Amino acid sequence: MPMRILFLTHSFNSLAQRLYVELTERGHDVSVELDIADSVSLEAARLFRPDLIIAPFLKRAIPEPLWRRHVCLVVHPGIPGDRGPASLDWAILDGEREWGVTVLQANAVMDGGDVWATRTFPMRAARKSSLYRNEVTEAATEAVLEAVEKFASRRLTPTPQDRTLDAQRGRARPPMRQETRRIDWARDDTATIIAKIHASDGVPGVLDRIGGREVHLFDAHAETTLRGTEPGAIIARRKEAILRGTRDGAVWFGHVKPKDSQWAPFKLPATLALADLLTDVPESDPGVLPAKHVGTWQDVAYEEIDGIGYLHFDFYNGAMSTDQCVRLREAFVAATKRPTRIIVLMGGPDFWSNGIHLNRIESARSPADESWQNINAMDDLCRAILECTTHLTVAAMQGNAGAGGVFLALAADRVWARRGAILNPHYKGMGNLYGSEYWTYLLPRRVGADNACTLMRSRLPIGAPRAAALGLIDESFGWDVAQFCVETRERARALVDRVGTLLDEKRTRRISDERAKPLARYRAEELEHMQLNFYGFDPSYHVARYHFVHRVPHAWTPLHLARHRRGAWRRQSELTGAGTR
Ligand code: COA
Repeated sequence: MPMRILFLTHSFNSLAQRLYVELTERGHDVSVELDIADSVSLEAARLFRPDLIIAPFLKRAIPEPLWRRHVCLVVHPGIPGDRGPASLDWAILDGEREWGVTVLQANAVMDGGDVWATRTFPMRAARKSSLYRNEVTEAATEAVLEAVEKFASRRLTPTPQDRTLDAQRGRARPPMRQETRRIDWARDDTATIIAKIHASDGVPGVLDRIGGREVHLFDAHAETTLRGTEPGAIIARRKEAILRGTRDGAVWFGHVKPKDSQWAPFKLPATLALADLLTDVPESDPGVLPAKHVGTWQDVAYEEIDGIGYLHFDFYNGAMSTDQCVRLREAFVAATKRPTRIIVLMGGPDFWSNGIHLNRIESARSPADESWQNINAMDDLCRAILECTTHLTVAAMQGNAGAGGVFLALAADRVWARRGAILNPHYKGMGNLYGSEYWTYLLPRRVGADNACTLMRSRLPIGAPRAAALGLIDESFGWDVAQFCVETRERARALVDRVGTLLDEKRTRRISDERAKPLARYRAEELEHMQLNFYGFDPSYHVARYHFVHRVPHAWTPLHLARHRRGAWRRQSELTGAGTR
């Protein structure tokens, strides 16, 4: 039975997007209200009259009148009995072997309501944000779908927490303070330091001092071949990352967030944020096409398996700066010189790509110039992939992709995505950005002009299976990243026998497409719009980017999400004569 489901959420984050996709695909009518103020949430419920309220990601309690009037299901990233705002942080630092997700009914006790569904998963040595985007999201999806089914059946009721409680582990835990996260460089070994950073990635990071400056550390990777003499001292740099000695080895840090910085109080590549401290620090140059190694930091890495090239690009948060686009293009071109015929573009395990690097742009002296360079570097990369006729290219999306990152994938000959991946194939959310990456060529040829228009306008996320059904991508498979990678290799191997024919078809098609309209013209037309976005009179893109990078709290819910407000807004604007948002 389709239901009206209202999402009450702090932000429309990856988990909220995944649940939105899963529930709408099952026919439910889902509308979203961002948690801005109690009165606004109550108004949303009045307008939408939901059968059920779901809170995928909340940072504070649901107002009492709301949970008294409606069943409100809260997704808690912890096992039953666990309470508090830092569940995953504690689970990582305490070395839990198994963790879980609980869907509970909101009541007067924060995280203390009756349990509708739970799921557990084995813990992995990974960043908190990676666990959240993978294990937690998969477990939460299953648990929410079960809870919704139980609720719809009207026969099953939730279980009080004390009857589901895991007496050993499920307990209320306080917020995790920086004293707990703090690195003691003299005593902590590499594994402890990595666990502390993992427990704090991507928010709030671990506060530390480098060269007398306070910074939050993120994005840590153990180094197994180099080691320092003085724990904490910077001993090497590599592209974006710095290497610091530990008492038993060394750790790379890819990103830092300067504290109290006037210039950039947000995450930046470590070598950019700390540039003035690094003049005498040696560069550990990975080369143009670095072979993939474990036990070090690599954002671009290459491996060959069974004569097929796999190019990995694990850029933090999927953001791709000008330098990274240039390096990836050079690596791709180098890979095309290898004696292979198929190149699989792997992205990273958490993100395929989220397009141009908004934080780096925000930190630039001229954000407009940096935006321009970044989008041109992205376009150059797309063109190198599009014009490659020596190799069949496959985009294998292990993780989510947004904006230009989705269109980068479409530049490949085959596009595969993990079943749970969420794609946002649109740019408008970033201050009405027009977008480039040859999307005006790539999108309509895959989904047709009408669907292209709908996808771009709707600004909504789409799940990989639906994307495959639409023709946006070719196939979706694999229940988790490991399975997706195994199947990707099998499917890539299966292309080997046909690669000659497929390459002939590709060359013929490229020639005829080029004749119909040259790639250069698509690019020039897109960039004409982008130039206006970057340098024109309308500052929407710069304002939206500032809000995104500085994490400015939402003041209202965009109408493409708050469907319940569309009618109300229309009626109100008719009365006042105001325009539409
Ligand atoms: N540049 C810099 N940072 C980016 C980024 C980008 N293009 N895209 C995402 N990020 C960062 C976010 O700031 C966030 O950082 P945090 O670790 O400090 O929290 C992190 O990546 C995860 O992003 P978040 O928005 O929390 O992930 P999500 O899965 O909930 O949402 C998107 C995914 C793609 C919808 C959303 O990140 C987005 O809109 N990104 C911008 C896309 C864009 O407009 N790119 C530029 C045009 S090509």
